[in-house]
Amino acid sequence: MKKVLIIGANSDIGQACAEEFLKKSHQVTLAAHHPEKIKIENCKTLLFDVQTSALDSLGNDYDIVLYIAGKMYDNEATLFGEEKKSVMEVNYNAPVRILSYFAEVFEKKGGGTIAGVTSVAAVRGKSSTVVYGSAKAGFDNFLGGLRSFVYPTVRVVSFRLGYVDTKMTAEMDLPGLLTSSKANAAKTIVKNCLKGNRNIVYVKSVWRPISFIIKNIPEFIFKRLKI
Ligand SMILES: NC(=O)c1ccc[n+]([C@@H]2O[C@H](COP(=O)([O-])OP(=O)(O)OC[C@H]3O[C@@H](n4cnc5c(N)ncnc54)[C@H](OP(=O)(O)O)[C@@H]3O)[C@@H](O)[C@H]2O)c1
Repeated sequence: MKKVLIIGANSDIGQACAEEFLKKSHQVTLAAHHPEKIKIENCKTLLFDVQTSALDSLGNDYDIVLYIAGKMYDNEATLFGEEKKSVMEVNYNAPVRILSYFAEVFEKKGGGTIAGVTSVAAVRGKSSTVVYGSAKAGFDNFLGGLRSFVYPTVRVVSFRLGYVDTKMTAEMDLPGLLTSSKANAAKTIVKNCLKGNRNIVYVKSVWRPISFIIKNIPEFIFKRLKI
């Protein structure tokens, strides 16, 4: 039985992950800024706002820590408005602050798994996700550096999500072939947190070749595509 902490657990995918861990008889703690909204039984909940709460309120007796909080608003509103502050904070500053704390805890303990949920938006600066994508890219890059820094004592796994049908994407018209359900996304995340040695997991594998192509289009063409 593993002791699992999920941070940002008001997330639809985060709650599906909690249910998946519980199904496999692991012990789950859910840290969320609105814990009263969580209706899952048999897990502990903690009030935790990733932007403001003190790290020691999370405790440190865990085997797996999964950071899944995220913030996304309309692209243009984020680029030109105040929204950019919380997008940068929740998607980059907070996970760096929180996961570097757990990296130290796990190094001292001699093991553990740190998991971070980023996005396929992290693979390249895109017109459609200017600030959100850049914050996820910073987080993704941080996980890569941390993975090497704590290797081989601590495992770090990055989950690059493509589209998932959740409240975050409720206003979007998602292409079926590129979209996962939250239950399937959770299955992939939980399976790869518990076992294996994969470093970067694309949740819905079709996003791996798509991301490769997006990454390799020459910049002078890419800027004109406005994708
Ligand atoms: N859905 C997709 O298509 C997709 C694609 C790529 C990556 N992702 C990433 O996957 C993760 C999960 O997203 P999701 O689809 O499950 O969306 P979601 O349900 O909106 O989950 C994001 C969660 O983060 C929580 N959060 C925001 N600010 C917080 C704070 N200051 N402290 C604590 N929690 C905070 C939100 O809580 P409130 O709801 O209470 O604000 C929300 O529940 C996110 O990191 C997202 O960026 C999602």
